[in-house]
Amino acid sequence: MNDLYLDKENIPKHVAIIMDGNGRWAKQKGEMRIFGHTNGVESVRASLTAAGEIGIKYLTLYAFSTENWNRPKEEVAALMDLLVKAIYDEVEELNEKGVKLDTIGNTNILPDSCQVALKEAKERTKNNSGITLILALSYSSRWEIAQAIKKMAGEAKDGSLSVEAINEDLISSYLSTANYPDPELLIRTSGENRVSNFLMWQLAYTELYFTKTLWPDFKKEHFYKAIKDYQERERRFGKTSEQITDE
Ligand code: IPE
Ligand code: IPE
Ligand code: MG
Repeated sequence: MNDLYLDKENIPKHVAIIMDGNGRWAKQKGEMRIFGHTNGVESVRASLTAAGEIGIKYLTLYAFSTENWNRPKEEVAALMDLLVKAIYDEVEELNEKGVKLDTIGNTNILPDSCQVALKEAKERTKNNSGITLILALSYSSRWEIAQAIKKMAGEAKDGSLSVEAINEDLISSYLSTANYPDPELLIRTSGENRVSNFLMWQLAYTELYFTKTLWPDFKKEHFYKAIKDYQERERRFGKTSEQITDE
């Protein structure tokens, strides 16, 4: 599959990916789990390039969940080191390609070395106008929603927010994705059919695409196949099919 088969008039603005299956990929090869994570970096590059080439504006990648802190501490440490290394290795090229880097999640609790690398990379790429790469790090949807409610409740208490003003748009504006449209498409690799606490508010009407391909094997052609699948769907948003085709 290449991008020639895609309808250029129907490219999603925002695609989110749950990059899963690195551990199993490594195990199949008789290697340690971290070998899978390391090889997953190449798939990040492939999806980012593919997305940029067809004009996707936002790519959100679930890189480390709140729940992932519960993994063995050696794996957590190796993932954090890999993140720092990948940022330093890639930032120059990202910048040249006009990529803007952002993060969502409780990044304040990441190791200092990660926070420094992320801050520098964000600063460096902040004026770029190409695709925005949003890394979800120490992120979970329930954490994000709890943060938003806490903030809203505090403002309601001190009088700066009126309870009557609370509606869906306002709630969205308190989430870490406030600056971004909801994803039209969510991809999850590795054959797991679940959301794992990712963007639960934002996914309300997102098209879900599950593939058995393990993340380190997921390359440009797999990405385009997912976009093609998305393009063959009818998004009804509660309406009837006739209403959609008559519009
Ligand atoms: C995804 O791969 C990467 C992270 C969650 C950080 P996994 O590490 O979950 O791989 P599997 O699911 O164990 O194969
Ligand atoms: C989800 O993958 C989190 C990331 C991809 C970062 P997991 O492998 O942690 O998800 P579960 O635990 O199998 O649901
Ligand atoms: Mg997994």
